[in-house]
Amino acid sequence: MPPTPLNLSVIGAGHVGLVTAACLAEVGHRLIVIENDPVRLDLLNQDPPQVPIYEPGLQELVEKLRADRPEDFRFTDSIFEAVEETDAAFVCVGTPQGESGEADLFYVEKVASSIAEALAERNRQGYLVIEKSTVPVRTGQSIRRVMERVLAGRNRSEVSFEVASNPEFLAEGTALRDFFYPYRVVVGVESERGGEFLRSVYQPLLQRKFDWAPPGSLPDEFPEAEFLETDVQSAELIKHASNSFLALKISFINAVANVCERSGADVREVARGMGLDPRIGPRFLHAGAGFGGYCFPKDVAAFHHISSELGYPFDLLKNVLEINERQKQLVIEKLRKALWNLKAKTIAVWGLAFKPNTEDLRGAPALDLIRSLLDQEAEVRAYDPAVRKLPPDLQDRVALTESAEEAARGADAILLVTEWDEFAALSDEQLKEIQKGMNLTVVIDARNLFEPSRLRVLGFEYYGIGVP
Ligand code: UGA
Repeated sequence: MPPTPLNLSVIGAGHVGLVTAACLAEVGHRLIVIENDPVRLDLLNQDPPQVPIYEPGLQELVEKLRADRPEDFRFTDSIFEAVEETDAAFVCVGTPQGESGEADLFYVEKVASSIAEALAERNRQGYLVIEKSTVPVRTGQSIRRVMERVLAGRNRSEVSFEVASNPEFLAEGTALRDFFYPYRVVVGVESERGGEFLRSVYQPLLQRKFDWAPPGSLPDEFPEAEFLETDVQSAELIKHASNSFLALKISFINAVANVCERSGADVREVARGMGLDPRIGPRFLHAGAGFGGYCFPKDVAAFHHISSELGYPFDLLKNVLEINERQKQLVIEKLRKALWNLKAKTIAVWGLAFKPNTEDLRGAPALDLIRSLLDQEAEVRAYDPAVRKLPPDLQDRVALTESAEEAARGADAILLVTEWDEFAALSDEQLKEIQKGMNLTVVIDARNLFEPSRLRVLGFEYYGIGVP
């Protein structure tokens, strides 16, 4: 095994890149982070550094590393410097969604060719290029092809390198905990040497040799992480298949919720009953307004796209996305049923972020719901504990309030879209106050956060998702 600490670089100081770099530095490795956005780089290089994303614990960890081990945790814009001083690079650049659902790999390609240029110029051998961004299966092969072409173009085909895949399984809001206490570490490699290198990268984590304590609490028993070594394509597919399967679970329970509504059953009970079977498991069976975020919608679409391209249209995935879109329309339907016309009605939207404990609005169901309400000429007032700014097209059309109560004042309905603790913690007295201040007292609880009977007793006209 290569000696530790290892010299590693991370390319792209976005959410995945920063978390990966900070956590790997915290377990003892030496890290160089490459960021080509000058504004972001400048923020990170300030003293103390300013982490430009919201992730509990990350600002503190980055500050601590910069203060205690500035030489071992650095930010730069030079891939050349990184390639010269390190033995492997984690590629963590964005893979946005292209027009027909495919992943746009422009940045991945650019990074691959820059690394090859740097390898040729600095005369490095055996460098390891590790994909960490979520990429379609066979991207590893494309990276290899691009790099080989660049090297051939410089008459340096003798420069050796290896490509690996090490998908991330970090969820926003719990990314640090997910990194330090993973369920599994998956590495797809081309050779034994690549596998050994990556095993030694993760060795301190697998052996729990670190001091970091999570901001929240961990379950009493946290299973030991499995280190799974596969070929590159399988590792790439594990990531796509995992995210798509989780999205499938959500669409499945949302579809079940709609059958529950039409048959008088309670989806919460159905999900509990299903989840007790360990083959199914209880998680990701929470019915609601559908999944959002930067990953699930994009990854499911990309997986569908690549499977079709490979000659096997995986249409179940298309259905997962369709159910998810329909779920939002059904929420609007519910509102329309309760209020009759939406035109000139005032709707208080509680929660904007795609899930609690983040300010991320990417793919947030709340935004689609708001746009649909505005199309129907409803007035929208919105409140979210973390979101301070709406996307440009909504800024002048939606009033962003300072509290849940303020949003609901004079409203005809509350539409709860993100299950923040702050809403769950509202006391009966507070809810009663809110109810008194409303014009009509409809609540559409699109995350089943409240107990229906509790809100009905308080005088609300309550509707959940798949609950009687
Ligand atoms: C997801 C995965 O959970 C991570 O494992 C993965 O690494 C990450 O994508 C990624 O590919 O980078 P994330 O998008 O941060 O993480 O959020 P999740 O907590 O998975 O939630 C996704 C969406 O599903 C949210 O809108 C949430 O409200 C919704 N959801 C989740 C439900 O509607 N019901 C559920 O039961 C669970």
